[in-house]
Amino acid sequence: MRILICDGPRSIGESAAHVLGGALRRRRRPTLGIATGSSPLEIYGAFARGIGIEDLDLSRLRAFALDEYVGIADDHPERYANVVDREVTTKLGLDPANVSVPDGASSDPDAAAERYERQIEDAGGIDAQILGVGTNGHIGFNEPGSPHDSRTRVVSLTAETRAANARFFDDISHVPTHAVTQGVGTIMGARTIVMVAQGEAKAEAVRHIIDGEVSTRWPGSILQRHPDVTIVLDEAAGHLLEFAGQYRTDAGYPA
Ligand code: GLP
Repeated sequence: MRILICDGPRSIGESAAHVLGGALRRRRRPTLGIATGSSPLEIYGAFARGIGIEDLDLSRLRAFALDEYVGIADDHPERYANVVDREVTTKLGLDPANVSVPDGASSDPDAAAERYERQIEDAGGIDAQILGVGTNGHIGFNEPGSPHDSRTRVVSLTAETRAANARFFDDISHVPTHAVTQGVGTIMGARTIVMVAQGEAKAEAVRHIIDGEVSTRWPGSILQRHPDVTIVLDEAAGHLLEFAGQYRTDAGYPA
């Protein structure tokens, strides 16, 4: 695991974009795994400025989102398909036909989840996966207890996750109770993974993920077993780490 502590959102986004871009440039038809949530937004901003992907032909880029709410209105601004459309497809000028999001509106969400898993396989897997992290250590919507070998499936959201995401809805009762998410095993299949986290609310999860035991209690801790993971943090998210002082990079990612 490589860990970087940056001095603010812009350098987090740029550092992450450099690492991801390096992984994407190695492939002829690269596949990017995209994440919603507020933390990854700076990465899309950096990509939109050309950072990390200067010489990449974006018309060849295929993108797969991590997760989607089940049973959210089609036109709800927080439906992840709409977030991805707004924040990624439009900002980067991608062909919408090359961008996939799990189908949370399907009348058979289990079958839709299985289809999504196959679509990722058929595209040759994910070359570079972006991850945020929940306050309870979830990755995608893989809540504590998610099996390490889980694949794309329908899950129920914990009260903690629904409360954390209530800020995006009028009221907590409007936060969906279920989601379709790539599994922990699906995520671990990505060739390169970059996780970003910001703010004090993530500090405990970050500590368990980096310094703790690998366990299903803190789903992101499985990343310790992945051969190519970079975790990019701000000071507040990283301050509980045993070696926090060694990870600081004021100058952004070293070229
Ligand atoms: C949601 C998403 C996760 C994301 C998390 C953290 O629950 N399903 O993929 O990592 O939010 O979001 P934020 O970065 O806004 O704290």
